[in-house]
Amino acid sequence: MKIDASRLQKEIDELSLISENPAPVVTRVLFSEADLAGRAYVKKLCVEAGLTVREDAVGNTFARWEGTDKNAPAVATGSHIDAIPNAGKYDGVVGVLGALEAIRSLQQSGFKPQRSIELITFTAEEPTRFGIGCLGSRLMAGTLSPEKIASLRDREGNNLEYWRKQAGFTKGDASSVRLAKNAYSNFVELHIEQGPILEQKNLAIGIVEKIAAPSSLRLHLTGVGGHAGAVLMPERHDALLAGAEIALAVERAALTTGSPDTVGTTGVFRIEPGAVNSVPCRATLEIDLRDTQLATRDSALKQIESAAADICKKRGIGLELERVNVDAPAICDAKLVELISGICAEKKISSLKMISRAYHDSLFMAQICPTTMIFIPCRGGVSHRPDEYSSPEQIETGVTVLAETLRRLAK
Ligand code: GLV
Ligand code: MN
Ligand code: MN
Repeated sequence: MKIDASRLQKEIDELSLISENPAPVVTRVLFSEADLAGRAYVKKLCVEAGLTVREDAVGNTFARWEGTDKNAPAVATGSHIDAIPNAGKYDGVVGVLGALEAIRSLQQSGFKPQRSIELITFTAEEPTRFGIGCLGSRLMAGTLSPEKIASLRDREGNNLEYWRKQAGFTKGDASSVRLAKNAYSNFVELHIEQGPILEQKNLAIGIVEKIAAPSSLRLHLTGVGGHAGAVLMPERHDALLAGAEIALAVERAALTTGSPDTVGTTGVFRIEPGAVNSVPCRATLEIDLRDTQLATRDSALKQIESAAADICKKRGIGLELERVNVDAPAICDAKLVELISGICAEKKISSLKMISRAYHDSLFMAQICPTTMIFIPCRGGVSHRPDEYSSPEQIETGVTVLAETLRRLAK
């Protein structure tokens, strides 16, 4: 098997230029022009590789290399190409274009898969438009109720139904995306680590045993606006100040669970009307809270919710609090982890079994079929930033391990 690392790098570079912002910044928000153009680019490469491409009702894209046994569940791999604002070029993309390179290298080696191999490009792994991550894979796993799907709105108030049709995905509806349990024999996602461990330990590959449990909250605070000169301080109900206290409560909750793995972030904080001489009357906060253990994550979540209620009561602020998602961790398939660990050992590639602190579509694919992830190092552990970087050699090693894994699973 021969991986063409320079072809792959050229494609990663080309895709990175399809962005809402100039290089080196990559921004591809779900169903933006850049997201649609990025999808078109990936589909073109898949068709050139002889894969059969289909899309579901929300734009999850499946590129299939047909195996000799058409009835056996396929082996799946893939990741996402949407990118948060001000992102880099490797998050998700390495698992899509890297998987395509793995497939091409298997084709060129003369391998004939018995099980079909499908490369999935998931819709909206990133939560930017609707505030909820892993939208495509959540729908595949059937974890969202029709009410929840209907309640998803972006900042402009447009819903998923509006956006998917706008993007040209007009057939079926969001609930038709659901897959049967064991629709695939396995799912393996290649991804950059998004943390510093592999680089620090000078290791080439991480094999994921568990994915930390994410959750997120959206808070709408309603205070009383007014003239910044005229409304005296004791009379104020300032929505921003309540939000600021809540953001500090998030930090406190994450720091005091007793677990070093609890992390809390207030990543969105918008105020209205946003004028220097006007008391903020409304604030919207979006809070991300995660942990590798459910007990500590859930206790921090309760602490944040009760702090928000107390703060708003004290300040005379109206509070609407929505739990956007509260997910369990994913336990990866032990046999699959051992298979990949064995492949690394045979190829004399250093590896480590590890936890993923970031979430991934694998979190939900694990509810459908035996799943794991292959991590490669990234410089300084940096991700969700334009200076995110993995070298062509690091990527090539990841693709080599993925290709051999797919070969074994499809045989
Ligand atoms: C994925 O992008 C995450 O936020 O973990
Ligand atoms: Mn990401
Ligand atoms: Mn990602």
